[in-house]
Amino acid sequence: MLSEEGDINGLSRGRTVRFVTGNRHKFQEAQRILSSYSFEIEMVKEKTLEVQDKDLETIAATSVRDAKNRVSGPIIVEDAGLFIESLNSFPGPYSAYVYETLGCEGVLKLLEGQEDRRAEFRSAIAYIDDLMKPAVKIFLGVATGRISMEMRGSYGFGFDPVFIPEEQSSTFGEMSLEEKNRYSHRAKSLKAFASWYLAYLRD
Ligand code: IMP
Repeated sequence: MLSEEGDINGLSRGRTVRFVTGNRHKFQEAQRILSSYSFEIEMVKEKTLEVQDKDLETIAATSVRDAKNRVSGPIIVEDAGLFIESLNSFPGPYSAYVYETLGCEGVLKLLEGQEDRRAEFRSAIAYIDDLMKPAVKIFLGVATGRISMEMRGSYGFGFDPVFIPEEQSSTFGEMSLEEKNRYSHRAKSLKAFASWYLAYLRD
């Protein structure tokens, strides 16, 4: 049963979910997406452990377990990456490092002369609470598209200026938050999480 505060029998499933992330862009996207669901989201600005692994799911699950040692209540973390077809899915789970070292320009250079520019963004959300601990729920979202020929737009973050979602001509960098949320990997994983979470609260 939900109390006024939204806790269930005083335990930690409730109406406020903490998104543990150091990335305010991710949080703003999440806030907008989750505003149509009947629970609140709060940013906890903290760096979480990011293990090296080939699966975003494993990275996100490890991060959320790590965050749970310091943050109470229901929490989510997200791990995302850009997977480029002609580079055998590189940079994938190494996207943060590749962004820091090569940036968008470096990715465009790697694809110089390459006709196959197909790519996808993937997002893995990991959820945990005090009741579920140590179990973790994972929600995935994928946005298919292609890498542009040049950087375009100044909205968003990371590889947004070079990613064009399927059937569109603008990059994520040229899209407002609302537009990006129509196509993004993160919007899909967050919606999957939110639908599950509402059912979980009702159980
Ligand atoms: P993270 O480990 O989840 O922070 O993501 C790894 C890297 O992928 C980030 O540093 C960004 O460069 C890139 N990335 C993840 N999601 C997005 C996105 O929605 N737009 C642009 N770049 C992204």
